[in-house]
Amino acid sequence: MTSVVTPQHASGSDDIEFASRDRISALQLDRLRWSLQHAYDNVPHYRRAFDGAGVHPSDLKDLTDLAKFPFTTKADLRANYPFGMFAVPQTSISRIHASSGTTGLPTVVGYTANDLNTWADLVARSLRAGGVRPSDKVHVAYGYGLFTGGLGAHYGAERLGCTVIPMSGGMTERQIQLIADFAPDVIMVTPSYMLTIVDAMIAKGIDPASTSLRVGVFGAEPWTEKMRTELEAQLGIDAVDIYGLSEVIGPGVAMECVDTKDGLHIWEDHFYPEIIDPETGEVLPDGEEGELVFTSLTKEAMPIVRYRTRDLTRLLPGTARSMRRMQKITGRCDDMIILRGVNLFPTQIEELILTIPALAPQFQCILERPGRMDQLTVRVESRPDSSASVNAEASVRLGKLIKDRIGVTVIVDVVEQGGLERSVGKAKRVIDRRPKD
Ligand code: DLL
Repeated sequence: MTSVVTPQHASGSDDIEFASRDRISALQLDRLRWSLQHAYDNVPHYRRAFDGAGVHPSDLKDLTDLAKFPFTTKADLRANYPFGMFAVPQTSISRIHASSGTTGLPTVVGYTANDLNTWADLVARSLRAGGVRPSDKVHVAYGYGLFTGGLGAHYGAERLGCTVIPMSGGMTERQIQLIADFAPDVIMVTPSYMLTIVDAMIAKGIDPASTSLRVGVFGAEPWTEKMRTELEAQLGIDAVDIYGLSEVIGPGVAMECVDTKDGLHIWEDHFYPEIIDPETGEVLPDGEEGELVFTSLTKEAMPIVRYRTRDLTRLLPGTARSMRRMQKITGRCDDMIILRGVNLFPTQIEELILTIPALAPQFQCILERPGRMDQLTVRVESRPDSSASVNAEASVRLGKLIKDRIGVTVIVDVVEQGGLERSVGKAKRVIDRRPKD
């Protein structure tokens, strides 16, 4: 195993956020060369995969040559469970995180001390872009533990100079009490758990807009512009989107700027994005929607080459920062519902629900197969003050909107507030009860 040659990290020198495209591309090429070589030299999986595809790190002459290299999938990570993807000896690993692994083995990721440093820098950079200041108190309600949300947010907020309240997810009553007593300026939480907290506040007679909160840093699951409007209005805050995944580093891969709220700037000095056609694997030009793929440029412990995120979005030019943006995630390929030939995502349903004042943004899409045909039931909660007749009307309206806008007939089931299971982390929007054949 060769020793780790650390590329020049951009620690603290965030002028790169505003650098010219030429400078960003030159840095990416340099770092990409290092990263591919590092993966090839130190991870048997990459050596086999590159050799199998007939490519060598030295074949990378410019950034577009990356397309010659093979993809990495979650299955590759599982096949190398637990530590087979690590490129450094265990003694150089400072931290391990893992995905929940609802099906099969969890995905394990590792970090060197330098990786943790980069990660904290990038979350700090993200928070700054999101309107968080060093003097702020930050309430972290992402789960702490193997999930990257809690600790990732925590060290980033500390790095920025904030006062961190490491609350973790769950214990909703306690969340409400500490928000009232500690008066945080910022909350970092999944948008669906934020809604749970908001509902619980209202149930206790607390006006969510009366809290000290100024900014909500929401991520770890898809959420829509309509949901932003809802959360901003209910809480009287700026709601900004933070994106990331454990395989790439955790939260802080991309972040929305509070002054533009026009998509998430990808921190391209550390992660190289591509958009591919999920069917053919072909690289698509910027602006076209497809599956997001990432290659790490500086990670030491676990370099990742062309990782297929399963997330669908498009790449857009930089605005508030020079680095390219990704549009808010439409959904994951895995969450795409194919109903009688029509593709739809829970985010499309969320957008439509939130156009109907009687309906709350708590919903689930339940797939069943009572006969030969698949059937989708959209189960959605009503607002607390709405009556049975208003709910009946809302149900018909939502069914019609879904038919008109998406083109499928669904069953709409409006239930009372509290009728659906609440999320304390990532919401489960799709429940598939179809027989496995
Ligand atoms: O969810 C990391 C994270 C924590 C991001 C806290 C933001 C805030 P994983 O558990 O590995 O990591 O899940 C990654 O979550 O591939 C997306 O499908 C989804 N996801 C994460 N952020 C967003 C977002 C964390 N802002 C998976 N919008 C990703 C939409 C998101 N989906």
